[in-house]
Amino acid sequence: MAYVRRILIEPHPMLHKAAKKMSALELKMPLTQQLIDDMLATMHAAPGIGLAAPQIGVGKRIIVVDVGEQPEPHVVVNPVLTEFEGEETAAEGCLSIPGKIGDVTRAQRCAVGGMTRHGKRFALQAEGLLARCFQHEVDHLDGVLITDKASNVRDAVVVPSDSQEEKDAKQVPI
Ligand code: NI
Repeated sequence: MAYVRRILIEPHPMLHKAAKKMSALELKMPLTQQLIDDMLATMHAAPGIGLAAPQIGVGKRIIVVDVGEQPEPHVVVNPVLTEFEGEETAAEGCLSIPGKIGDVTRAQRCAVGGMTRHGKRFALQAEGLLARCFQHEVDHLDGVLITDKASNVRDAVVVPSDSQEEKDAKQVPI
């Protein structure tokens, strides 16, 4: 059974704290497995395409990502990003900063390493939205929010026209 948890909203001190690495032993604990199930349920219910444990008040290095490109969402424990390539600026939202978006420049591609929820090695080459989402979630683990690095932070408003505002509104919070 998975439970939708309350997502912490900025300003909350927890969102600005670096999360701690999780040991393989800790990962096996039923409480941790429940936490991961709850993170997935919370992300999907929001709806969002990514969530980091600190966003539901747990200072551990666990992220979940689901940009709808694969059958199963990604769950990565102690994620490490390397091999950054390219650069892309795009509008980004965050579940902890509802109603706001900002333009964030990120690597176009990166490699994602870490552990699966079952303690196995996780490795993935990500690009585009998936790479952006991983970078956003790892930022959360370091206590960094889009408002720390975005330019032109603005309201995500819905306007029925082919305007910039409408494009902005299509952004799914990460
Ligand atoms: Ni976020």
